Amino acid sequence: MAYRVPRLRLALRRGYATGARPSHLELLGEIHPTDSITNITPTIISKLPLRLHTQLGHPLSSLRARIESHFPDYTHLSSFSPLVTPFKNFDELSFPADHPGRAVTDSYYVNKDLLLRTHTSAHEVDVFRSGQTKWLLTADVYRRDEIDGSHYPVFHQMEGACIFPQDASAMKAVEEHNAQLSAHLDSSNIVIEDIPHITAANPVQPSHDPRHSELVAMNLKLSLNSLLLHLFGGVSGATKEEPLRVRWIEAYFPFTSPSYEVEVFFRGEWLEILGCGVVRQATLDRADVPDKMGWAFGLGLERIAMILNSIPDIRLFWSKDPRFLSQFSADPSKITTFKPYSRYPSCHKDVSFWLSEDTKMHENDLCDLVRDVTGDLVEDVKMIDTFTNPKSGRTSQCYRINYRSMDRSLSNDETNEMHSDVVSRLKDQFGVEIR
Ligand code: PHE
Repeated sequence: MAYRVPRLRLALRRGYATGARPSHLELLGEIHPTDSITNITPTIISKLPLRLHTQLGHPLSSLRARIESHFPDYTHLSSFSPLVTPFKNFDELSFPADHPGRAVTDSYYVNKDLLLRTHTSAHEVDVFRSGQTKWLLTADVYRRDEIDGSHYPVFHQMEGACIFPQDASAMKAVEEHNAQLSAHLDSSNIVIEDIPHITAANPVQPSHDPRHSELVAMNLKLSLNSLLLHLFGGVSGATKEEPLRVRWIEAYFPFTSPSYEVEVFFRGEWLEILGCGVVRQATLDRADVPDKMGWAFGLGLERIAMILNSIPDIRLFWSKDPRFLSQFSADPSKITTFKPYSRYPSCHKDVSFWLSEDTKMHENDLCDLVRDVTGDLVEDVKMIDTFTNPKSGRTSQCYRINYRSMDRSLSNDETNEMHSDVVSRLKDQFGVEIR
């Protein structure tokens, strides 16, 4: 998606009315200049210092501790800054120049040289270069996204990796480890749908001995299956009658091959919870450890915590309400089933408009605007109608915004006020004509 848009339009679609963009932003105590692609919003900036994965007793921090306890001989890292260069986030991991993840509609840019990491893989090369061979890294990551119960523009990932020398004795040790892990996994109340380690579409890397790649891929799958067993084995929802269902699927990542995704069946849906694969040799070459090979994975902590703790809405992780936080124990070995305190009434309001001819507005632009006006008081935003007038060529869109607080009832006046603020910002920032 390499596209070019004139400067003015860029400024508009990023969410700053013309002229309204500050020349500098203070982020985590440092001043950074903005430019024509700046699209980081005040709401997102306010999340940067929070680091929920390090707050004792927070369900995300407890989940991190549970995962770390499953990998006791790994180094546990969690203090990397979320501000990274596009080079670290993408190029160093072999992302092509036109990868859609680089688009300003998908990622938050401070300026053209700095963005908020979109995944914890952004630190792989640095960690490998520092000499770590078995490590876990936890961090907040940022992606522009729609508004609904399971998406939030900030979430938390944990990256894990293990690399081995590429020699016969190291491979023998991997083989032995695999045998041990398989023996442990055999009896469990988890049903795992597996796939072949290597296929024509999910190939071994040219520089790898296929037998080594197969052993490493197997070690990856067994290590993650045993992590999933450790995490989900004892919880309700994984009983003999209704075992937890996990499935492996072939995937593609620019920085691994073969690659996989793992999904867990939850409330009638397959939820993607992690991506992984055999680390691309280019990554290890860049990290000055070309003689090693290994695997890496990246998992989403919110998705797993929502399943484990029965948390129904991703916004709850950001709640400061003691009725949420006090339900969770500081002891990570205790898994609390969240008891919703109340479901407050929702109220939806529609907004219909003609898009102005020289402004493109992405759905993520609208969602960032809504988040800036309402904080977490919107439960979802859906486009319910769109059409283009064949004569004028103009496009009309209608969005339904569903207002609902997780902590209290919203008054009519308050909802109306927020909605009219959304509408007037839509006019100011995107030049739309309200219908
Ligand atoms: N970084 C990938 C993502 O966020 C996940 C991943 C990590 C895939 C490590 C492979 C290896 O989707």
